[in-house]
Parts: sequence; C-alpha cells; structure tokens
Amino acid sequence: MCGIVGYLGERPVMPVLIKGLQRLEYRGYDSSGIAIVGGPTSSTEARANALQLFKRKGKVQDLIDHIGGAKPEGKVGIGHTRWATHGAPNDLNAHPHRSGNGRLALIHNGIIENYHAIKESLIQRGHTFESDTDTEVLVHLIEEILAGGDCDLFKAVRLALSEVDGAYAIAVVDATSPGEVVVARKSSPLVLGIGDGEYFIASDATPIVEYTKNVVYLEDEEVARISLEDGLKILTINNNTVTPVIEALEVEIEAIEKGGYEHFMLKEIHEQPRSIADCLRGRVRLDHGKITMAGIDDHTEMWTQAQRVIIVGCGTSWHAGLVAEYLFEDFARIPVEVEYASEFRYRNPVINKGDIVIAISQSGETADTLAAIRMAKERGAHIFGVCNVVGSSISREADSGAYTHAGPEIGVASTKAFTAQVTVLALLALRVGWLRGEVDSAMLARMMVELQAIPDKIEVLLSQEEKVREIAKAYCQAPNALFLGRGYNFPVALEGALKLKEISYIHAEGYPAAEIKHGPIALIDEDMPIFFVATQDAHYEKVVSNMQEVKARGGRIIAVVTRGDTQAAALANHVIEVPKTADALVPLLSTVPFQLLSYHIAVMLERNVDQPRNLAKSVTVE
Ligand code: G6P
Repeated sequence: MCGIVGYLGERPVMPVLIKGLQRLEYRGYDSSGIAIVGGPTSSTEARANALQLFKRKGKVQDLIDHIGGAKPEGKVGIGHTRWATHGAPNDLNAHPHRSGNGRLALIHNGIIENYHAIKESLIQRGHTFESDTDTEVLVHLIEEILAGGDCDLFKAVRLALSEVDGAYAIAVVDATSPGEVVVARKSSPLVLGIGDGEYFIASDATPIVEYTKNVVYLEDEEVARISLEDGLKILTINNNTVTPVIEALEVEIEAIEKGGYEHFMLKEIHEQPRSIADCLRGRVRLDHGKITMAGIDDHTEMWTQAQRVIIVGCGTSWHAGLVAEYLFEDFARIPVEVEYASEFRYRNPVINKGDIVIAISQSGETADTLAAIRMAKERGAHIFGVCNVVGSSISREADSGAYTHAGPEIGVASTKAFTAQVTVLALLALRVGWLRGEVDSAMLARMMVELQAIPDKIEVLLSQEEKVREIAKAYCQAPNALFLGRGYNFPVALEGALKLKEISYIHAEGYPAAEIKHGPIALIDEDMPIFFVATQDAHYEKVVSNMQEVKARGGRIIAVVTRGDTQAAALANHVIEVPKTADALVPLLSTVPFQLLSYHIAVMLERNVDQPRNLAKSVTVE
C-alpha cells in the first residue's frame, strides 16, 4: 500500500523526497505529496506558516509537474505516495495532511479503524476537516494534544496513538520545530536509514539504499524522534526506552533499477535464471548428497513429528502455496491445507499441537498474512516464514523460515518471487521428506540435479520470447481467456490467469482442466482463447482429453507443451515448448510463458505494466 519517505540533513530535501517517492511508487500510485519544513525563515511565527506543502492526484510525475519551478527549501521533509482506502484519489485526500492550525503535517500508511468516533468527537470540539481520509483525524488529534500544553511533539504522537486502533506507519513534522521528525509504526513497515549527520525514513529500503546501508527497522508500537541536533530516540507507546539496533542492508542499487529493460516486470522475468540459482545456492549440496536449510535443520524433530501443515498467503503467494500442497504430499507425506490468509484469520481454525503454519509472502508485510500468523501463533502453531524481503515483518515474527533470495521485486505483478517461492518450497518438501524417511537418496539426488538444471532451462524458455510475442499479438484483443491445467499445473493455470488480468485487464479465469465440464465449457466459442498447460507429466493423457473436448467445441487453444511433444501440440492453434523436467518442478518452467504472454499483451494494450490500475505491490491493509 502507500509508500512513505522522509529526510533530515544537509542535502537538498526535495530531490531526495521525489526520488524516494519514485522508488516507492510501486506501493501505491493514485496521488502523492510532500511537505518540507525549516526553510530560511527566522521567527517562530514565520516558521509556523512555513510548511511548504505540495500534493497532487495521479502519479509522482503529476506531483513534479505541479511543483513546477518552485524550490521549497529546508532540512527536513516528508513525502507520500497513496493507494486510496478512505476517500477517493484526489488532491485533497492526498497526503501529507495538515493540522487545523497548519503547523503539523502527517503522512500515513495503514488504516485508522476508529477514525469515525475520533472524528466525531473532534468535530464536537470545533475541528473542521478538509479531506475524507482517516489520516487527517490523527493529525488533528496530535494538534489538540499539543495545544493542551505540557508536551512536545514526540509525546503528543505517543498519546494520540494510544487512542488509535488500526495499522499505521506515520511521519509527522512541525513547522515550529524544523529539525525533527516523529515517526511510528504498527503493522505497517517503517525503516530508518542512518547516514553521516543525516537520516532517511521509508516504507522499505529502496529509497535508502543509495545513501546508506545502515538501517534500523522500527518495531510495532515504537515511536521514534529523529532530530538533527539530538539524533535518534525510540520509545514504545507506553514510554519504554528502546535501544536502536543498526542492521546492514544487503540490497545493491542496481537491483532496484531497470537495467536497460523497458519495465521492471520484464527485467524480473528475465532475472529468473539468476534468482533461482541464488535461491538454490548453498542449499543444494550435490557433493554431500543433501539439501541444507537452516530454518529446518534447527527444528528437525518438529518437522519429523509434524501432523499437519497449514499454508497461508495471498495472491500469487497463495498460488505458490497450492504448488506446495502437491510437493508436500508427494515428498513429505504430511497433510496440507492451503488457506487464503484473509479467510483463515477470521475463521476459528482447529490448530493442534504439532501443526506448522507456513506463511508465504514476497513482501513479508501483507496485512492479512501477518494477522493470520499472529492468530496461529497465539493458538500454539509454529510459524515458518517464506519471505523475499529480508527483515520484513513476517520474517521477523516467524519462529523459523527461509528467504527466497529473489532480490527486490518492483513490478506489481509478481514473477521472479513466485518461482523463487516454489523453489524454496520444493527444497523444503524434499528436506522434510528426507528427514521423515519418505525420500530416499536416489530420489533426492535426482531432484537435486533437476533443480540445478532449472536456471538453464528457463534461459531456453526465455529465448522463445519472440514466439510468445507473436501469440500475444494474436490474442491481445480477446475480452476473456481461460487457463487450464491439472496436478502441478493447476496452480500454474490460476497464476497465468491472475497475471493476465492484473496487468492487461482482460478477464481471465484459471481452472483445473477437468472442471470445465462443470460450467466454463459453456463459455467456449471461437472467440475465447484457452491456454492449456499440457506438459508430459502424470496428467498428460487426461489433459489431452480435455483439450479434445475444447477443440470439439471450436475453442482456440494455446498449449504449453513439453519440448518435442506431438500429440497435445496437434490439437493446439499455437504451441509453446518447455524443456522436460521432473513433474514436481514443471511449474517453475510452465509459469514463465504465461508471464511473458501477459507482459506482451499488456504492452500491446498500452497498459501501465509495472503499476497496473487499482493494484499495489504490498497490501498492508486488510
Ligand atoms: C499483492 C500483489 C501480488 C501479491 C500479493 C501478496 O496483491 O500485487 O503480486 O502476490 O499482494 O503479496 P505478498 O507480498 O504477501 O506475497
């Protein structure tokens, strides 16, 4: 969801904020704004009017155009890029929001759930509001507490937050105190960058990495005062002192730039051979004939005894969870349930001793997944996190876990994160299967060899991009599409449909191929492209029969088949070949053509590929 950024220091503030917003724009992009304080004014009164605020509906570029030639000066500033929750995306609802006296400006990522009650009581006490947002209520509340005297901004923010229910990462500036920013977090991420006499604030490390590698991750219910004079001080909302722990960022600047590609999504699709190799590195030990994963090896008994695995995730991560269900059943022989985190968190699930909950999340910040693991943890489950973003909330709250090491994923539609998740989950299932005596040395050795060959096989696939582009051209005007697969390729069908709808806005559905007889077959006519995954695996013959059924009804078939295939290929109008691999690893290959296909269709339709409408990369509100 929204991205927040802030800076205190000697650099010109506006460029740091604008660049930070551009880096964070993938998080939300319906409006943006900045506030800068501490310009060259002297008297306190003049400073009170010196909150230089610019905000605009639209992309960060619209904000830049709006600022035009203005050169707001100061040493301290905050910025925000919004994904609307309360109130339409427009200039007034854009952040920062101001206090009634115009002295404070606040940015917020999250939702103030009890904002309505607070707003009513503030209105009764004479406050008036400019926007429809929940956020504006918070800045008025802080203003009121400050006006009561006897406290500074740091304390006023803590007092205000103690009245608030919901999720927040906030940053507040005060025009009469231009050398400080007060920030806080609860359930929405916030990272502080510590430079030499300068400080950075951001929702994630991407705006910070080019300036400093030293960061402090704020924890839930912590409030920090960052002051150019006094440095960093952190207290909990309940006034307990927290000693900041400085951690080193491992992300390199190249990883968050486009590197010559037209879009981040295309770059990330092409990065998959490398990201999967990174994911395997150090874990697949062919020389020792074993897979090592610290997150499991520290809890071998727990995995050996496990009675059940519950997998939670959202979106693409949930699809990776579905692949994991097959993997765990095939290799580890543990019963698995895969749940949408948003459903699971509000159910009353039966969690028994010995249950393990695997939370899959690229960002590690998805609100529903985070809430699901908190609930499961309270009920006694062990939480195993599969996250991409190092230091993210889920990775820190999990009891153990494994990073996917895919590197930063900026395109909103997930690509390399998905294949890295599936890779980690395959390693996990194999390692656990070995520990439980379900996987023998020969099987393990074979799978390890197959896994190591995946990066090269993806290279082969990527070399067919031109062919995929031709297919994209033939079907980019279709209003609907169906994606069908069975077994390991059923989640691939779901993921293929999700990719297409996310970035091209073409209505697409994924189904297990046999299910079409129970409804979707009624949709089939010569205008409906049907994307089949018909690789030569355990379900091949069955899928071929399903293709026959579609063909008999005049459907146009695009089939992803195993290299050299003739039977399925003969039924298809277009064919994309993938190299042969073990059945369990097919999703790592069969997903890639659909990623490319969706990408090229979206480009042909002139969609905003990296920032599709209404979506956000990291969904930090429920
Ligand atoms: C959003 C993103 C998806 C992602 C989902 C779950 O909807 O646009 O690409 O799959 O959130 O995110 P997570 O970070 O938990 O994997």
